[in-house]
Amino acid sequence: MSTRLTDLPLEPIETASRQQLQALQLERLKWSLRHAYDNSPVYRRKFDEAGVHPDQLQSLADLARFPFTTKKDLRDNYPFGMFAVPQDRVARVHASSGTTGKPTVVGYTLRDIDIWATVMARSIRASGARRGDKVHISYGYGLFTGGLGAHYGVEKAGLTAIPFGGGQTERQVQLIQDFRPEVIMVTPSYMLAIADELERQGIDPASTSLRIGIFGAEPWTPEMRQAIEKRMGISAVDIYGLSEVMGPGVANECAETKDGPTIWEDHFYPEIIDPDTGDVLPDGEFGELVFTSLSKEAMPVIRYRTRDLTRLLPGTARAAFRRMEKITGRTDDMMIVRGVNVFPSQIEELILKHTELAPHYQCVLGKEGPLDTLTVRVECAHGAEPSVAAQAREQLTHDIKAYIGVTAGIEILPEGGVERSVGKARRIVDNRPR
Ligand code: DLL
Repeated sequence: MSTRLTDLPLEPIETASRQQLQALQLERLKWSLRHAYDNSPVYRRKFDEAGVHPDQLQSLADLARFPFTTKKDLRDNYPFGMFAVPQDRVARVHASSGTTGKPTVVGYTLRDIDIWATVMARSIRASGARRGDKVHISYGYGLFTGGLGAHYGVEKAGLTAIPFGGGQTERQVQLIQDFRPEVIMVTPSYMLAIADELERQGIDPASTSLRIGIFGAEPWTPEMRQAIEKRMGISAVDIYGLSEVMGPGVANECAETKDGPTIWEDHFYPEIIDPDTGDVLPDGEFGELVFTSLSKEAMPVIRYRTRDLTRLLPGTARAAFRRMEKITGRTDDMMIVRGVNVFPSQIEELILKHTELAPHYQCVLGKEGPLDTLTVRVECAHGAEPSVAAQAREQLTHDIKAYIGVTAGIEILPEGGVERSVGKARRIVDNRPR
């Protein structure tokens, strides 16, 4: 067992055996199915229609008999129809905007919020935070779960929260310089924008007080991790979560191994399924991640299809808890260009090989007659010669063809030419006519 990087105490469950954890999961799973069936008309109807009843669950594997829940279920029951407690027990709601139509709304009891804070505190400790650390939070506050989720976790971990939120990049830099935080929680793409602003102000990004970055809310590649770690002089760990299941803190990488997020399986039960057939796949196989909440009161989710693609791996730094491989794609982000499946992360990996290119990029989809086209918009690195950038363009065109198998146009833009976001980056711009 590797040495822990945190000096904060772990919870007893974090050092439990796999058998102990599974016993707890089974007990909680029975409760969760029963709670959903008894208190949510939506789940009662879904279970009845599928001909299953909570009493039929005798083992964890029996979960496979229960129906899936999808984003459509949440949309169809907008805004509060998925709640399983009376309104007077709902302490908070969050919502994720979504690209089209109505947002997805989620709710929490006070107990849910406390458990969320507990798993977030666990995530922050796993990231290597130490007693006395100050945590600069640049995830957005508000309906998005990032800011408040991080905030309550920092407080629960006994650390100091600096609740900045997203945006005002110049001021972010000023406060990082003045307050000297040791930890930053932000999307990896916005971290890059903050790094650019540090440089613009003549500050070496590696010279700040920051020691740890807890990055998530969007896919980011191992190549991006390396680039951020080097540039910022920090240790970068991956935090995963989604509103429907809780928010950030469903899984978090352990700093001592950095081998994919450890899933906090005592509260969120993972499965991997074949996205086409819905069949459960064995650990180690690649497919769509599905979660069942084990303790959530206000809005239990049973077999929620995340659309995130990954695989389950055995525990390492927290031996009883399985890990998920770092997510590099979601079914929603898969571009099909002339019959070839392409994820933005594959493009990111190739862009990051070029030091003369900046790691800001977008994939623009268009149409040429009946055929789809892909154009990659990417920026010149700070101070790169235009002629060198032109070479990079040729090389990148070649790499994309050779490694991914599609012909892509490359547009090299000057510094600042690619749209910046203060939260999740928009990697795909779909200009195809509907
Ligand atoms: O993004 C929650 C969150 C906030 C996670 C802050 C981490 C940090 P949603 O807005 O509901 O919630 O979006 C959830 O974002 O299904 C994934 O597709 C993606 N995502 C989240 N974390 C990661 C990650 C928050 N570490 C959706 N790597 C999820 C890759 C991620 N994708």
